[in-house]
Amino acid sequence: MLNLGIIGCGSVMQGPYMELVNKLAFNNIINLKSISDKNIKLEKILKKKFKFDNFFNNYEKILTDEDIDVVLILTSMNEHASITKEALKNNKHVLVEKPMSTNMKDLKELFLLAKKSKTYLVAAPFVILSPTFQAIHHDINKNKIGNISLARARYGWSGPDWGKWYYETGGGPLFDLGVYNITTLTGLLGPVKNIIAKSSTSKPIRIINGKKIKVKTDDNFQILLEFQNKCLAVVTTGFTMQQYSSPAIELYGSKGTIQMLGDDWEPKGYEIWDNTKSSWEVFNTPYANWPWAAGFTHLIQCIINKKKPVVNLDHAYHVNEIMIKIYESSRKKKHITINSSFKPLKFEKNIKIKKSHLDHDMNHDVI
Ligand SMILES: NC(=O)c1ccc[n+]([C@@H]2O[C@H](COP(=O)([O-])OP(=O)(O)OC[C@H]3O[C@@H](n4cnc5c(N)ncnc54)[C@H](O)[C@@H]3O)[C@@H](O)[C@H]2O)c1
Repeated sequence: MLNLGIIGCGSVMQGPYMELVNKLAFNNIINLKSISDKNIKLEKILKKKFKFDNFFNNYEKILTDEDIDVVLILTSMNEHASITKEALKNNKHVLVEKPMSTNMKDLKELFLLAKKSKTYLVAAPFVILSPTFQAIHHDINKNKIGNISLARARYGWSGPDWGKWYYETGGGPLFDLGVYNITTLTGLLGPVKNIIAKSSTSKPIRIINGKKIKVKTDDNFQILLEFQNKCLAVVTTGFTMQQYSSPAIELYGSKGTIQMLGDDWEPKGYEIWDNTKSSWEVFNTPYANWPWAAGFTHLIQCIINKKKPVVNLDHAYHVNEIMIKIYESSRKKKHITINSSFKPLKFEKNIKIKKSHLDHDMNHDVI
């Protein structure tokens, strides 16, 4: 059995992550040994909801505990890089929520450390593990829509009314939401060679946890990505979108079009336009409840089976570099080159797609 520690016990810990933790604990695969939050009031609340041995105000007690094998880092964004570095130095397997880092210096240090480490680091988001993503990836590789020249992606909402840090430097919708779109597009189309972006603060005052706050980050983004394969894509993201009913991802090829339905963190399936058929073919996913925190289950499976995670570090670094440089591009009003790259993603071979819907063996199933 693997011993688990969790750092940061707010909204995502108490919701999607604990749902998966409880399933794995019920099956005696993991034991939730210790949790940590700097808000000590949470100890009492969480004791009533979940089973764990220790609550610490100071997360270092988790990292220096030799019995703990795996650590989930679910804090606010600016804390991710330093805690992840410490966790790796203490030989823990780590899952870190997005983004790994909000600046290039920490990102590079973290990346080098993780590359040398014998333990695994998986960085959210985990969109590439979704059955819908993998089916689209498969179709693109089978050349179903030909060469893809244009793409569009969007994800936004009106923004959280909790967590002041979402509106401070190092927060914002790009690291929180746009990250899903950039991970999906690069996962499907490969590495980006340069970017240009425009961002703004559209709502300078917000009410968070019932209190008025000054917004210190941009909350509204239009981003243009040029891929190494010459495809051009736009990403629209913001805490400035009340609702929409458009597809999350649109891919325009020389022979047809693919549209991912729903949001890419919670896809509802996809549709393909094929010029030779002159019609749309719709693939509704039977995995509508696919959990976006699936990277956790994936990490545990990889540790147990001694297999390298599919969610790879080079891809995560590339996405993180793009996001940091989007801020730079908007500030300097110019194109910025992306220096990193990654190899095409590879998935298990036996993906079967039935005509009427998606149906394939996926690695996200709870063990
Ligand atoms: N809320 C969502 O819908 C959502 C979805 C996907 C991913 N995420 C990501 O998950 C992470 C957490 O988001 P959230 O909405 O749960 O935030 P939250 O503000 O609800 O919770 C974060 C918790 O981390 C704690 N924390 C901060 N610094 C700490 C430290 N040094 N030591 C211990 N605890 C510390 C805070 O006290 C807080 O309880 C973020 O990276 C966010 O981008 C959030």
